[in-house]
Amino acid sequence: MKTTDFDSIDFFRARPLYQNPYPYHEYLRAHGPVWREPHHGIVMITGHEEAMAVYNDPATFSSCNTVAGPFTPFPVPLEGDDVSEIIEEHRDVLPFSDQLPSFDPPKHTAQRGLLMRLITPKRLKENEEFMWRLADRQIDEFLARGECEFIHEYASPFTLLVIADLLGVPEADHETFREELQGDQRPASGPMTHKPLEFLYDRFTAYIEDRRREPRNDVMTELASATFPDGSLPPVDDVMRISANLFAAGQETTARMLGTALRLIGERPELQRQLRDQRDVIPRFIEECVRFESPLQGQFRLARVPTRIGGVEIPAGTSVFVMPGAANRDQRQFDDPDELRLDRPNGRQHIGFGFGIHTCAGAPLARAEGCVSIERLLDRMADITISEAEHGPAGARRYEYTPIYLMRGLERLYLEFTPVG
Ligand code: HEM
Repeated sequence: MKTTDFDSIDFFRARPLYQNPYPYHEYLRAHGPVWREPHHGIVMITGHEEAMAVYNDPATFSSCNTVAGPFTPFPVPLEGDDVSEIIEEHRDVLPFSDQLPSFDPPKHTAQRGLLMRLITPKRLKENEEFMWRLADRQIDEFLARGECEFIHEYASPFTLLVIADLLGVPEADHETFREELQGDQRPASGPMTHKPLEFLYDRFTAYIEDRRREPRNDVMTELASATFPDGSLPPVDDVMRISANLFAAGQETTARMLGTALRLIGERPELQRQLRDQRDVIPRFIEECVRFESPLQGQFRLARVPTRIGGVEIPAGTSVFVMPGAANRDQRQFDDPDELRLDRPNGRQHIGFGFGIHTCAGAPLARAEGCVSIERLLDRMADITISEAEHGPAGARRYEYTPIYLMRGLERLYLEFTPVG
């Protein structure tokens, strides 16, 4: 696709573009860090500072449309100088409306408070201990072959089971979770619903009701008895939704981050050597992966009232698209933004985990998952390379990225390596 063609391209309907969105980001940037695209009137935010300004102003920008943007319209026109009432009356018709990222204060404040009581430092520490065991268990499944399809054999099951453990899903149920939530990837041994959200809602309702009836000495009982910040016990539905949302928010995102990390390790022998020799740079590498190929490429917001961002007028009712994947390559913020560099002084100022009240609740978890995985993969797999049979030779690789504009990550990644030990 030539850059000159971009004028006629509707980004939100241009699937081939998502295989490499960066030239299009540059086209947007050439119009300024904030620009209203002509196809849907969506305000595209590619500037780092401007993206932060939107994230930091939830009073002006509602999150009700965070995943759908204007593509699931409200049943009535968004007219007037303050569309807050229309939002409150009709927000439930929008997709994802029962999930935390779509909430605004004060509901968001209470539900996020509840979530943060579930992800305590103690729970995170125990969860990290589980990650070390799990990493080895996953690697054991393919190590002897000296090759793997990394996304489905490692990244997806690993990130799924880490969240299951975080929430206290008993280990005896882990295999069922794997079958139900990744059923297309592994042979099934029982009946499958193929409705992941329904499965999660049913399971967590049952777990929580059970532990409230008969408390035990386990993590699920802590989950079932966690209270809102005001001390009140939430309805079972709230806890069940928050638990299910963690799988939606935290599994594929982290799997994509791991895919990027291993692609880079397989592509760049010098980087691989550096990571093997200097293990203390692994956290910086993980951070840079999230900046360089942001797994979540965009979130929508809806302007409640007229406002301005980066000098651009934004009328009430406008959908804006905050693009962390582009803002993280804004050269006003990062030197050589298109280069992977482990020595950036401001490497943690990326907004790949969002910013403000909705900032990623699972970022510490994702970082730990990245570090533990890289440590164990490097320990147990020597000379990691990209499979030429599957992806073509160096310089002419074929990779397939998720064809969705909200996300960035590999669909498959075939690796070859020498098993260690
Ligand atoms: C590399 C992996 C991850 C990336 C890149 C990522 C990115 C993000 C981003 C950009 C947001 C902000 C969305 C918005 O402003 O509308 C977010 C929110 C969120 N993330 Fe993550 N995430 C990752 C992993 C995780 C994990 C592992 C969990 C938990 C298990 C998690 C749980 C959440 C939750 C619950 C929210 C909503 C927070 C709120 O609305 O208050 N994420 N994430």
